[in-house]
Amino acid sequence: MTSSATVTLNPSGQKMPLVGFGAWKVGKDTCADTIYNAIKSGYRLIDGAQDYANEKECGQGVARAIKEGIIKREDIFITSKLWNTFHAKEHVEPMLKRSLADWGLEYFDLFLIHFPIAQKYVDPAVRYPPTYVNDIEKSIAYFQNTPISETWGALEKCVEAGLVKNIGISNFNAGLIRDLLTYAKIRPAVLQIEHHPYLTQPDLIKYVQAEGIAITAYSTFGPQSFIELNHPKAKSITLVLEHPTVLKIAEETKKTPAQVILRWVTQRNIAVIPKSNNQGRLVQNLDSTDFNLTEEQISAISALDIGLRFNNPADWPTPSPIF
Ligand SMILES: NC(=O)c1ccc[n+]([C@@H]2O[C@H](COP(=O)([O-])OP(=O)(O)OC[C@H]3O[C@@H](n4cnc5c(N)ncnc54)[C@H](OP(=O)(O)O)[C@@H]3O)[C@@H](O)[C@H]2O)c1
Repeated sequence: MTSSATVTLNPSGQKMPLVGFGAWKVGKDTCADTIYNAIKSGYRLIDGAQDYANEKECGQGVARAIKEGIIKREDIFITSKLWNTFHAKEHVEPMLKRSLADWGLEYFDLFLIHFPIAQKYVDPAVRYPPTYVNDIEKSIAYFQNTPISETWGALEKCVEAGLVKNIGISNFNAGLIRDLLTYAKIRPAVLQIEHHPYLTQPDLIKYVQAEGIAITAYSTFGPQSFIELNHPKAKSITLVLEHPTVLKIAEETKKTPAQVILRWVTQRNIAVIPKSNNQGRLVQNLDSTDFNLTEEQISAISALDIGLRFNNPADWPTPSPIF
């Protein structure tokens, strides 16, 4: 099945699927097959990033699906993200082109600034992707003085050069977005943020949607994604997918807890990009837009908010507080 639900992006007018497939922690060995199977199962958006260390394998999965005639390039929406070490204007276009080469593509549908954090450049010949731990250049400052305006200007040039159709941001707060909108010649099409029942961020979402910027939610199952990383905050809390409120609504709607959570997001016109290394769960996640929750059910899930952020750069080895 293919989910046809979309959200329209500004300023391009392009339609972005409301349910896509997230490629973080999809291992290199299985990635090409997983992406191919996701497309074969109906996914029409793949969310990748330089930092996920699997862009070549993602591209192989896409190439196979195109070769077998399952899709044409224009049928699939592909997202990648600029890593923190490539914020300087001289690195933006070459590194976007490097990602395109890894995927085997001529253009991206969307390219995001992954974090509003400029880290010291790491030569890809030395290590790629560089990760957020700078263990190569310990003696050198971790951060780099590159303003977001410089990175954004370089991304706008990539749009003009036809390398990417839409540009956007990830992990930005409202203050930074407000500032970006004062100088952006091309407004950001998408904001990608952590969004799940334990971190709902209603004020940020209200502001961003009012600005006509689409939102993509990541880690929508909350702690679920962080268990395999041994994240201390994930171990000590009831899993969202096992929370009594979610289980009750799953029972009421005859849907799985995962489908309930995904619909809680998409019914508010926010896109989702669940990741699964399991074929059954991957199909189940895509099949999550053909029912509606009541206002009461949506409010009951939203009320689980405790402001619990899992993906927080303040917790990185070199703490980088941004929220
Ligand atoms: N912009 C950013 O900074 C950022 C940060 C994090 C993530 N992302 C993007 O967002 C995507 C999604 O976020 P995420 O990977 O952190 O978390 P997620 O999609 O919320 O959760 C993934 C976890 O849930 C499990 N799962 C998936 N479907 C399930 C189902 N139907 N029932 C039960 N468990 C299920 C997966 O296990 P199995 O694989 O075993 O099914 C995995 O452990 C990422 O892949 C990435 O593309 C972006």
